[in-house]
Amino acid sequence: MANVVVVGAQWGDEGKGKIVDWLSEQADVVVRFQGGHNAGHTLVIGDKVYKLSLLPSGVVRPNKLSVIGNGVVLDPHALASEVERLGEQGVSITRENLRVAENATLILSIHRELDALRESGSAGTKIGTTKRGIGPAYEDKAGRRAIRLMDLADLGSLPEKIDRLLTHHNALRRGFGLDEFKPEAIYEELASVAPKVLPYMDAVWRLLDEQRRAGRRILFEGAQGALLDVDHGTYPFVTSSNTVAGQAATGSGLGPGAVGYVLGIAKAYTTRVGEGPFPTELFDETGELIGQKGKEFGVVTGRKRRCGWFDATLVRQTVRTSGIDGIALTKLDILDGFETIRIGVGYRLDGETIDYFPASQGAQARVEPIYEDFEGWSGSTAGARSWADLPAQAIKYVRRIEELIGAPVAVLSTSPERDDTILMKNPFEG
Ligand code: IMO
Ligand code: MG
Repeated sequence: MANVVVVGAQWGDEGKGKIVDWLSEQADVVVRFQGGHNAGHTLVIGDKVYKLSLLPSGVVRPNKLSVIGNGVVLDPHALASEVERLGEQGVSITRENLRVAENATLILSIHRELDALRESGSAGTKIGTTKRGIGPAYEDKAGRRAIRLMDLADLGSLPEKIDRLLTHHNALRRGFGLDEFKPEAIYEELASVAPKVLPYMDAVWRLLDEQRRAGRRILFEGAQGALLDVDHGTYPFVTSSNTVAGQAATGSGLGPGAVGYVLGIAKAYTTRVGEGPFPTELFDETGELIGQKGKEFGVVTGRKRRCGWFDATLVRQTVRTSGIDGIALTKLDILDGFETIRIGVGYRLDGETIDYFPASQGAQARVEPIYEDFEGWSGSTAGARSWADLPAQAIKYVRRIEELIGAPVAVLSTSPERDDTILMKNPFEG
């Protein structure tokens, strides 16, 4: 039995939450390994809807261990309030079912402010971030001045660490013409939130190694998508972490062999939130219709998502950069009733035809998609639970996608409901 990593194969919002929740039935441990509370994962269980940003999607199920790995940037206030909110929904979170890596980097209010400040700047510097402080926190991690969860357990050592952090941040603040931060305010912020998050702290690398040796099955839950990866995505319009599957190992403290099967999640069309290139984007009523039918509004920020056709060139590329073994294709039902469905199969760039997404920002903005037109289906795929329930033409669409991206569809999701899922291949069976 393999472990499984679930990663987004587009620009995020592919429906990872539902798939992770559905797979978590077979898992013992669910691990987040990158990103932070910029993620928005919606789980629909019976008549209850849970919206998670930071906690692994396994927390809503009994007897699962949820783990936040070292690769995550952790806003302690966000963690405390998500735990509280779930408590109100009847989900109890204790050290029994949640552990957080002692070496996870903390997001502080100075990071949130800086993120928002940069986003309010001139249009050229705008990324369209979630303003959660994700980027600035990762910068401090790489800059070796971050405050980490374990530092909250040693309040005596904090003032020195805060000074080190502020040497950098106050210089930035002066550059923006803003007041400097007071070290005491940051100390107070951290000291007051510490008791709410320290109970979950653990040496996650060791815990996961023990779990693994004991034969317990681990499900790694990616946030964002491969096209938002800081190396492989549409840089600079990306998030600040590696979102590809390889990060599951680094971001949780295990070796690459622990990761197992890579399940990429892709929507039957494409969406994107924030700035950046999007070759198959639709600016017409078809795009509007997809957005309405698909309820394409951000879970975290409420922003309207940009919508467009499925871009097979992009997903073919993420299949490679993440080593995707199989795809979970979601929201096929949103395409029900369209007369013609288009699939992006390649690009034209400066008069040439190419079969990949170029790396440079300029070229990414210039490519024009080459489409294959596909006849739609009149029947409904919504809620289908077996292959036989699908219109023949919808099956053809899925088969064509498989051919174009070079990976099989292992799972087909036909509604937000947990049970409206068709399984072609069980990822845990490797
Ligand atoms: P889930 O897990 C979609 C996007 C932001 C912005 C860029 C950088 O729900 O799929 P950041 O705040 O991370 O520095 O923003 O990344 N972004 C997401 N888009 N889904 C997400 O997460 C996202 N998390 C970040 O919109 O363009
Ligand atoms: Mg999202």
